[in-house]
Amino acid sequence: MKQSTIEKIDALLHRLADGKFHSGQTLATELGISRTAVWKMLQTIQSWEVPVYSITGRGYQVPGGLNLLCASQVEQSRERVLGASSQLLPRLKVLTSVSSTADYLAQHWQSHLGGLVCIAEHQSQGRGRKGRPWISPFAANLYFSMGFRVPLGLGALGGLSLVVGMSLAETINQIIGETENQSAHGNTQNQVKLKWPNDILFEQRKLAGILVEASGESQDASFLNIGVGINWNMQSEQAKSVDQPWVNLSELTQKRIPRSVVLGRLLARLEQSLNHYFSEGFQEFAQRWESISALYRQNVVIHTARESVCGVEDGIEANGALRVKVGTKTHTFHSGEVSLRKN
Ligand code: BTN
Repeated sequence: MKQSTIEKIDALLHRLADGKFHSGQTLATELGISRTAVWKMLQTIQSWEVPVYSITGRGYQVPGGLNLLCASQVEQSRERVLGASSQLLPRLKVLTSVSSTADYLAQHWQSHLGGLVCIAEHQSQGRGRKGRPWISPFAANLYFSMGFRVPLGLGALGGLSLVVGMSLAETINQIIGETENQSAHGNTQNQVKLKWPNDILFEQRKLAGILVEASGESQDASFLNIGVGINWNMQSEQAKSVDQPWVNLSELTQKRIPRSVVLGRLLARLEQSLNHYFSEGFQEFAQRWESISALYRQNVVIHTARESVCGVEDGIEANGALRVKVGTKTHTFHSGEVSLRKN
């Protein structure tokens, strides 16, 4: 899609964000395009799963309006935590729609050697782990990727995805704790957990996922592309193809905090955690594993490409590998899908 078309669609979305009716003619005049062009853009918006109602004589409406991301609000919220502008990720790009923020970074990182965060309202080909799709309806959730170079080889990056997951889970727990006033879930504080290696869960329902793609440029330099998707206010009909239980963050926070504010805060905390990890290593994070793990000391089954092993989750190694105790023996896993064993 041409950049000028995306800009017009963006302008159209900002007008419809108020949830009121807008006539096709008014929209066409305001955007400086024909009514047919408005209609075509509305088709595109609908294909992003934005519900657009049309009533003859009144025009078009997005019922309930749209809560759009605001780049300056993200920046301000990030700076409130970091205190100064970001060192690791100085550039922030908010896109209306993209195939995948991960792909965008992969294509553009060479022109942003200083580090770039790409945030999108919609992804047409969002990617999850193990080649699964990541459902990305417009303005329903949070989708972002952080791209930067580090002066470390891939071998020195054990535990990286756990650092990202722990930082997100701990920050989300803080936000929930601050906004809580006896929600339907009762005391939700500290109940967001991390399932090794990088699923963020609330009561065994998936809240967020992390996709880490690292390319080793040399023995002492790597480019990291860290993608995060967080369910915010996704509707059941938008998530029909999601094949596991899931939950929205907006359900867990009582007060309505804008998505942009939450996003800014998450980015700031992620940057702090990553800086700490790059300078001090994984040890301190490994010590916090017990309190954040969704399955610590529980009966689990882990499926790898070679085998399925039943045992008890027994923490993590200093390099981020998962320990599973089977009888008196401890096995360690560097990859695999772990889940709660019911019997
Ligand atoms: C998972 O399977 O749990 C990981 C999901 C990661 C999704 C995010 S959304 C932003 C970034 N862009 C993508 O295409 N994927 C990641």
